[in-house]
Amino acid sequence: MSHVPSIGGAIARKLQEDPYWKPFFDGFPPVRQWLASEKPDVAVVIYNDHGLNFFLDKMPTFAVGAAPEYRSTDEGWGIPTMPSFPGEQELSWHLIESLVGENFDITTCQEMVVDHAFTLPMALLWPDQKWPVKVVPVCINTVQFPLPSAARCYALGEAVGRAVRSWNSDARVLIMGTGGLSHQLDGERAGFINKDFDLRFLESLQHDPTWATNYSIKELVRQTGTQGVELVMWLAARAALGERVKKVHGNYHIPISNTASGVLALQTV
Ligand code: DHB
Ligand code: FE
Repeated sequence: MSHVPSIGGAIARKLQEDPYWKPFFDGFPPVRQWLASEKPDVAVVIYNDHGLNFFLDKMPTFAVGAAPEYRSTDEGWGIPTMPSFPGEQELSWHLIESLVGENFDITTCQEMVVDHAFTLPMALLWPDQKWPVKVVPVCINTVQFPLPSAARCYALGEAVGRAVRSWNSDARVLIMGTGGLSHQLDGERAGFINKDFDLRFLESLQHDPTWATNYSIKELVRQTGTQGVELVMWLAARAALGERVKKVHGNYHIPISNTASGVLALQTV
């Protein structure tokens, strides 16, 4: 899913039926229906923090939350804060042990606040904000260069998938990736959107999931914008699902704020 702070303002002002926002919000009811029947117990949320929990002075490439709860707090956009998110600490520690065991050098966070990239996708999936899932946040740095390559993010996602599958639990796990699609918030190309690339990327997640790993970070920035590179979250989330998936529902709409927004729900088969 995409994330944009102004979604929080639109939710607060109940603009779901407003002509500007309707094509975006209409992407979610089918996904919510699917979740209501699948009843996940846990959500592993792969996203990028934008300066709320990590700032430019200390920027981990990969970080995993291991906190009992994650607070939503003011990051300066004027988005109303939300109820805290309960942590699934057992899965957090299993994930951390598995990832470190597979030679990923991650930062472990026993305290963590979560920003719009985490909170708004959760609020889109569960609008009553009574979270029915416990969560494990996984952060990938797409804010301060150098960024991990798309191929490395894919490998991280595969390792997350292996860890989830080897977790000794009957819990049903939803993997979320939030960021992108194409957008650039600053510089000469502010407002840049690349629909052709976005649609090719969305298609690749179903039929050729490693396609985007052939691009360097510089080339992804060229193709999708400085912040469009957040699409590596989708790649990592897709990689966690394993080889075979089927599409449950998808939506693509340009723009919300400065961003090409997408949602794609995939189920393992
Ligand atoms: C916007 C998009 C983002 O991904 C973000 O983190 C902040 C703002 C935007 O389009 O306004
Ligand atoms: Fe962002």
